[in-house]
Amino acid sequence: MSDMTVWMNGALVALADAKVSVLDHGLLYGDGVFEGIRIRHGRIFRLTDHLHRFEASCAAIGLTLPGGQARAHEACVAAARALDKDEAYLRLVVTRGVGPLGIDPTTCDTPSLFCIAGQIVLFDAKKREKGLDLVTSFWRRPPSDVLDPRVKSLNYLNNVLAKREAKLRHADEALLLNAQGRVAESAGANLFIVRRGALQTPPASEGALEGVTRRSILELARGLSGELGLRVEEVPLARADVLDADEVFLTGSGAGVARVASLDGVALRDGRHQGNPTAPRVSERLLDALVDLARTASTPFR
Ligand SMILES: Cc1ncc(COP(=O)(O)O)c(C=O)c1O
Repeated sequence: MSDMTVWMNGALVALADAKVSVLDHGLLYGDGVFEGIRIRHGRIFRLTDHLHRFEASCAAIGLTLPGGQARAHEACVAAARALDKDEAYLRLVVTRGVGPLGIDPTTCDTPSLFCIAGQIVLFDAKKREKGLDLVTSFWRRPPSDVLDPRVKSLNYLNNVLAKREAKLRHADEALLLNAQGRVAESAGANLFIVRRGALQTPPASEGALEGVTRRSILELARGLSGELGLRVEEVPLARADVLDADEVFLTGSGAGVARVASLDGVALRDGRHQGNPTAPRVSERLLDALVDLARTASTPFR
């Protein structure tokens, strides 16, 4: 806990002093939005993309981002610089701010903006090596006219409960389907499969967050499609497609690129090329490319 730095409403503050009010509607009603951002090689990965999504999420819930993207940029750089680590994680948050009890967001005066820099370990190295065990969650991703999954809001109870269910069922992560029973994403990451000569992921309209890592992986895979021998497609997916895939992996700022070993207790194909078992898996090749990309498509903070 101590290895964290916090920028809050304009200044760096000690962790013990970084507090929000019990009357903040971010706490009372989940009224706010956030970003999870990776620092790799001493650079903030795709900060511009994260700030665009942050502002778009604010716009979607009618919250004016104080100081716009420039202030949020300043918050991220200041928190990252104070932490001074080459590999780290940023949590950028804006809440509706303090208001009276009662859900009305128009009663809140000033949004609260803060950024925490620290570490995040979603899956340990041994788990990554072995591959993750997923279970299909009882919980469904809500449709966009209920709670739009493309808005990275502080309403993460759907994701939290799916993750809790996965843990209670001794799995690492939950697969969430949408209301139609098609694949949306996992509780905290996007999902890709390699199947029948294509790399596939569901379009965001299926109930997925437009992940910054997802977009990077799509771009990288399109650039490498000759080498990988794969078409790259954003298409609706059924759970059966996941079970039938040659390789399945999750992507996210925290998750990185993490291969999936099983779904609901059924072992998945492990992505090893039948003809050449020593060749890197698609997920391994794309993780290498992602780590390389982080050297350029990023914002230095020192
Ligand atoms: C529900 C959900 N889906 C997908 C992702 C991946 O998005 P990104 O690559 O922008 O981190 C996240 C965040 O990590 C998430 O919380």
